[in-house]
Amino acid sequence: MCGIVGYTGLKQADLVLIPALQRLEYRGYDSSGLATIHQGRIQLRKKAGKIHNLVQSLQDFPVLGTTGISHTRWATHGPANDVNAHPHLGGISSVALVHNGVIENYSSLKTFLEDMDYHFKSETDTEVLAHLVSYHFDKICGDIPTVDNLVQAVIAALSLVKGTYGIALVCPFFPNLVIGSRLGSPLVLGLGDGEHFLASDPSALMGFSNRAIYLDDRQICVLTPDSWSILDMKQVQISPVIEALNHEVYSPDKAGFDHFMLKEIHEQAESLENALRGRLDEDEWTSRFGGLNLDSKQLRNIERIILTGCGTSYHAGLVGEYLIEELARIPVEVEYASEFRYRNSPMNGRSIVIGITQSGETADTLAAIRESKLKGIPSLAICNVVGSTIAREADGGVYLHAGQEIGVASTKAFTNQVVVLAMLALHLGRMRHLSAFQGAQVVESLKELPEAVRQVLATEAQIREIAMRYCNSPQILFMGRQYLYPVALEAALKMKEISYIHSEGYPAAEMKHGPIALVDRDTPSVFLISRGLMFNKVMSNLEEVKARGGPVIAVASERISELSRKADEVIVVPKVAEYLQPVVSNIPMQLFAYHMALLRGCDVDKPRNLAKSVTVE
Ligand code: G6P
Repeated sequence: MCGIVGYTGLKQADLVLIPALQRLEYRGYDSSGLATIHQGRIQLRKKAGKIHNLVQSLQDFPVLGTTGISHTRWATHGPANDVNAHPHLGGISSVALVHNGVIENYSSLKTFLEDMDYHFKSETDTEVLAHLVSYHFDKICGDIPTVDNLVQAVIAALSLVKGTYGIALVCPFFPNLVIGSRLGSPLVLGLGDGEHFLASDPSALMGFSNRAIYLDDRQICVLTPDSWSILDMKQVQISPVIEALNHEVYSPDKAGFDHFMLKEIHEQAESLENALRGRLDEDEWTSRFGGLNLDSKQLRNIERIILTGCGTSYHAGLVGEYLIEELARIPVEVEYASEFRYRNSPMNGRSIVIGITQSGETADTLAAIRESKLKGIPSLAICNVVGSTIAREADGGVYLHAGQEIGVASTKAFTNQVVVLAMLALHLGRMRHLSAFQGAQVVESLKELPEAVRQVLATEAQIREIAMRYCNSPQILFMGRQYLYPVALEAALKMKEISYIHSEGYPAAEMKHGPIALVDRDTPSVFLISRGLMFNKVMSNLEEVKARGGPVIAVASERISELSRKADEVIVVPKVAEYLQPVVSNIPMQLFAYHMALLRGCDVDKPRNLAKSVTVE
């Protein structure tokens, strides 16, 4: 979490630092700040709240300087106020530093520094790092400080740190210098002509640089307007790979929609076509992937698949479990990456781990991939962001091609994750028992999906009306079975994250083991229904809620006359193959959460306390 930008060149630094930072606001938006170097001094501005607060403060109190760093924060240590906002100063303003990550041993380092007479202004772990660099800089440098001294001080400070960091710092002794380093939190270097950039991810570099170097863990970059170098922790120079950036991918534009989330919901037919494009093989009735990096023998030998991810990506994994077990008959386990990484799950050479992630930067998912690699288990990534850390570190993978997702609540990425998992299930199934006829059915169902998604998007006006009737509900229950159970979980997550209404997702049959106690006339229950095997059973659960006076909203995959008598509201969605129904039935739930949040006056694209990319544990 948190976004970092650094700049050194000929332009006024804030003219680069602010727009670049705005593109990283999805990483956190509790507070923001910047520091430039001007006439041998640090100019510092910090503000609680979103970046526009900082922009306003810069209008009143402008900064000068052509070198600087900036930060948008997702608070870990200390509340989101002006003081805890980054940058933090070390020593007597001898460095200004921004940080993304968590310094786990900050408490003992702080005690040490306080004993050395360093005074702390904030409650952050980051200020410890700023003082620590300053402490070592004072120790190392002679009468005339050198860049080399500062680099050594940074290395000495970072060597004492336990935890994760992506940092950028400036120092008033060197008015044209930015230093950065990373361990666990991403940093990318943007190359320019007479200017250089540093950022948490390449989207920040759009319009500024189209050549980038992804920093690896425990590397340090030293930037001036005319030079850049990358060193390891022993100060040995490294020759990195310079990659071209395709900025078409990063064009944040609401395209006439009020919010990015709404735009992204409406993009789903198209983005799912992009996920399918070129991947369906109508000769062999299977699917094709370019980057799995596993040969057919390895794929055929797989005996166990572990799907892991966080948040919405975890829910897509749950759908994937049903899909892969049904189509490919391979045992699948789905686990939150935060749990999997610390669990010693028995695996062997015939297991694979698949990390599912929109951003490709989620700390727990990354750690899960690394843990599997350590044990020699092949790891794949189902990932949206090209060139992200997980995409680069996994042994192979499949890109989602969903386009940039900016709304913090994930929507189109979920749809593409399910579709990619369906194609993977087809691929693995066709290598095993799935007949050409069955393969053809799956291929045809996938081809029909974009049209079904277009149709379901047309339910928006009805959903907005339903939202108007229920937007003051104190809580909502979401129920589904089999393929629609993960959708119940995802619908509840979407509702709570953007509307702040307490919501629970449950397998419908589990209702009687607890959630039914919550049912009353103010608590709507949403039932996700399809005409499959479970239909009658779900209908019984629905009746049980009605019998207790609870309002019922049904999302049904066809017009069912008994439903219109029994449910208070019925949203009819197109019927597709049962294993793809999650895609279609989930979309009204995205729209429901969106309109509920809007009616409640919530910040849909930037819900409180959340961030799009969770790069801390
Ligand atoms: C955050 C986001 C969620 C997302 C989750 C996992 O919590 O707010 O929308 O589902 O992270 O992110 P990933 O990028 O790994 O899919």
